[in-house]
Amino acid sequence: MKRFTVAVAGATGAVGTQMIKCLEERRFPVKDIRLLASERSRGRTLNFEHVQIPVQVMDENSFDGVDIAIFSAGGGTSLKFSPIAAKAGAVVVDNSSAWRMDPEVPLVVPEVNPDAVAGYKQKGIIANPNCSTIQMVVALWPIHKAVRIKRIVVSTYQAVSGTGKKAVDELDEQVRAMVNHIPIKNKVYPYQIAFNCLPHIDSFLENGYTKEEMKMLNETRKIFGDNSVGVTATTVRVPVFYGHSESVNIETEKKISVKEVRELLANAPGVKLVDDPSANRYPLALDAAGQDDTLVGRIREDESIPNGINLWIVADNIRKGAATNAVQIAEVLAEKYL
Ligand code: A2P
Repeated sequence: MKRFTVAVAGATGAVGTQMIKCLEERRFPVKDIRLLASERSRGRTLNFEHVQIPVQVMDENSFDGVDIAIFSAGGGTSLKFSPIAAKAGAVVVDNSSAWRMDPEVPLVVPEVNPDAVAGYKQKGIIANPNCSTIQMVVALWPIHKAVRIKRIVVSTYQAVSGTGKKAVDELDEQVRAMVNHIPIKNKVYPYQIAFNCLPHIDSFLENGYTKEEMKMLNETRKIFGDNSVGVTATTVRVPVFYGHSESVNIETEKKISVKEVRELLANAPGVKLVDDPSANRYPLALDAAGQDDTLVGRIREDESIPNGINLWIVADNIRKGAATNAVQIAEVLAEKYL
């Protein structure tokens, strides 16, 4: 089997460390691994397959000889270094939002549009979608293929790990401060996140939506290859460490029953049906955390319209919402294109 030299850019971050674990767990054919971060991580080492690997400070020469570079180092860093990596001959799989809507960069969820990977030939870059979009399209694609979804109304309940390690620490510290009656400090979020819900993810735009909400519209259309799908989103940060939950309402062109949706999703790749209300079984963030399936349950008919369905969709935002999806893209590249 062919083996590849892989670089992980942002290797010390919340997603980067999970990317390294995913490469190990999924036995990606790694010949050599290069772990890249900023000056702040100089001197650190990280474990890969029981070997301590020194972290290198990313610079213009970091990508010589690299076949695949998986990035999770922020948008600005990616804008600067992805073209450098591509010029050096690497194919970049980028987790930031920097390249997602570039028409010459494919946006890929392997369960939905694996063939789009071929588009890497244009710029040498493939974009990994936003975490809340990934889990939604994994669950909705089989329904879209069967009866065409006209409109999606989604509200999200997103974990703090999506903001990075500092946000995980902030929630932890605030919970401790609360129970110990110590004054609460907030740095990462504009308000206290412990025991609170913030209807604010990423920055606000002129139209009153946040960037995160507009990502759910634009990225869903690009991944589905269907610009006529309507999406309206309200994205909310909640005091959960790992696992995004979503309440999703869809209106379909053709009628589909709850039973048919259950059958479709029971056989859909990457989906696990958890839907037995009589036994109190429904998807939970705590159950989604640490594994790769997108959990779907609470499937009900929307009785207020002729062709409507409600679902509750939960996945680990750091795994399927970021690291796992990126490594799956690398797998498609390795198997079919490199
Ligand atoms: P470092 O840990 O050295 O700062 P998170 O999303 O958890 O905040 O992680 C961001 C990741 O991106 C970290 O690995 C961080 O490295 C890395 N990173 C941020 N800025 C740069 C940069 N300019 N060059 C290389 N890596 C960067």
